[in-house]
Amino acid sequence: MNQYAVWGNPIAQSKSPRIHQLFAEQTQKSLNYSAKLGDEQDFETQLKQFFADGAKGANITAPFKERTFDLADVHSEACLQAEACNTLKHLEDGRLYADNTDGLGLVSDLKRLGWLNPNQHILILGAGGATKGVLYPLLQAKQQITLYNRTPEKAVSLAEKFAKFGKIQTAYLDEIADETFDLIINATSLGLQGKYVELPRQLMIQANIYDMQYAVNMNTPFLQYARSQGAKSVQDGLGMLVGQASYAFQLWEDILPNVEPVLERLKQEMN
Ligand code: ATR
Repeated sequence: MNQYAVWGNPIAQSKSPRIHQLFAEQTQKSLNYSAKLGDEQDFETQLKQFFADGAKGANITAPFKERTFDLADVHSEACLQAEACNTLKHLEDGRLYADNTDGLGLVSDLKRLGWLNPNQHILILGAGGATKGVLYPLLQAKQQITLYNRTPEKAVSLAEKFAKFGKIQTAYLDEIADETFDLIINATSLGLQGKYVELPRQLMIQANIYDMQYAVNMNTPFLQYARSQGAKSVQDGLGMLVGQASYAFQLWEDILPNVEPVLERLKQEMN
C-alpha cells in the first residue's frame, strides 16, 4: 500500500489525512496517509528516513515548506517561483521531486466559485509565504494584482520578483480607497490572532472577498469583519485546502479527485 503523510508542527489540527482518505475512497485507491509531527531540529533527518522507509509522497505544512524546498532534488516551476514546497513525490530513481500546489488550489477554487475572470483586479493583503505561494498561478491566469502589506518593502520585493509574469503593483491603503477591485484576498496570518486588516468599506461591498484561512461556517475574523461591513460575497479557504490536496493526489496517484463532494463532507463534519 502506498504510504503518504503530512508533516508540520503543530500537526494535530491538520485536515489533510481526512481529505486524502476521502479522495482514496472516491477514486477507489488503497493508500495510507498519516499526520507526522516534524521536529524543529531534526526535520530533514526525519523526512529522509520517511522516504528511506519507502514512502511515496508527502505534504508539507508550516513551518517546513522552505526547508523542504532546500532539501528537494528537483522542483516544478510553481515550486521554484514560490520558493516553498507543499508536496513531495519520491521518484523511481530515489530523488525527491518538489511541487507547490497551493496556488493551483486557490485558482481552482476561484474557478469553482465563478470568481476568476480574465484581467480582473485583485487586491491581496499580505506579502508573506502564503502570498508568494499563489502569485505565479494567479498571474498566469491573467489576473491584475495589487499587493498591500504592513511592511511595504516586502510587498515591493515580491512585486519586483513576479513582474515578469504579469501585472503586479503595490499600494498603500489610502491610495486605493477610491479604486474598485473584483476580488480581495486575505493572505495575512493576522486571523490566527483574531485580528484583520481594516479596509475602506467601499472596497469591501463591491468585491468578492476570499480569506485563505478557514473556520466553521466561514467565521474567520476577516470574513466576520467583511460581513459586518456589508460585504455580500464572502468565502473562506477550505476549498483552496481541498483543491491543493487534489493536485497532490493527482501527482501521486495519477487521478484528479472531484473536490466538491469532499468539500461538502468536510463542512458537515466541522459543524
Ligand atoms: P505566511 O506563511 O502565513 O504567509 P508569513 O510569511 O509570516 O506567514 O507572513 C505573514 C503575513 O501576515 C505578512 O504579510 C505579515 O505582514 P508583515 O510582512 O508586515 O509582517 C502579515 N501580518 C502578520 N501579523 C500582522 C499584523 N499584526 N498586522 C499586519 N499584518 C500582519
